[in-house]
Amino acid sequence: MERLQKFLSSCGVDSRRKCEELILKGKVKVNGNKITELGYKVNEKDVVTVDDVEVIRKEKLYFLLYKPEKTICSVKDEKGRTTVIDLIDTDEKVFPVGRLDYDTTGLLLITNDGELANKLTHPKGHIEKTYSAKIEGIITQKDIKILENGILLDGIKTKKAMAKIKKIDKTNKKSYVELTITEGRNHQVKNMFLSLGYKVLKLKRTNYAFLDLSGLSIGEYRTLSIKEVKKLYSIVNIQK
Ligand code: URA
Repeated sequence: MERLQKFLSSCGVDSRRKCEELILKGKVKVNGNKITELGYKVNEKDVVTVDDVEVIRKEKLYFLLYKPEKTICSVKDEKGRTTVIDLIDTDEKVFPVGRLDYDTTGLLLITNDGELANKLTHPKGHIEKTYSAKIEGIITQKDIKILENGILLDGIKTKKAMAKIKKIDKTNKKSYVELTITEGRNHQVKNMFLSLGYKVLKLKRTNYAFLDLSGLSIGEYRTLSIKEVKKLYSIVNIQK
């Protein structure tokens, strides 16, 4: 069961607000009956019309992409660069959930489910995202603790994180660090390292909530299973 205005907007009729107006104006019918009540709930079997034209339910799509480098995390790019959407074979209007930088690789969700995407990217979502970073220099345990406890970025402290040294390459003076954060501020991982004096040379997102990249090669994608979608919904507390 879903509220009528939410159903209409999820089918692409218009924004939630505009759909409410359509209902209040008496333009919406459910099974032939005019509905002007905003709280009215519909289920999958109900036939909904706007101005007597049937609203076609949109199939929700969910993809997990192993984003390659040199792809832009948006639907279109004015400079004509390859977008992550170009890599997905669908005619539906899908979009990335959050952003990875042009040179960042790794796990990216792509969907046409605006409600889920909003919840996942909302700061209150607290979704754990794990990154594997190759950085310039030899990182110290003291700096690992600082990464974990929070760093001031643009005057705001980053939330508690988890950091682990995976490897130190003394010869080439490089370190490999795994960092798990629950926020999604702009260039957050790079800026966290940079504020401690380490330049990030390579960055890959390996995990998003309970999801990982297993079975995928770079540039490949798969659809999420119903179970995985339900789990994402339950993490962000959307009742379905
Ligand atoms: N943090 C970054 O700095 N870049 C990304 O692409 C993702 C997280």
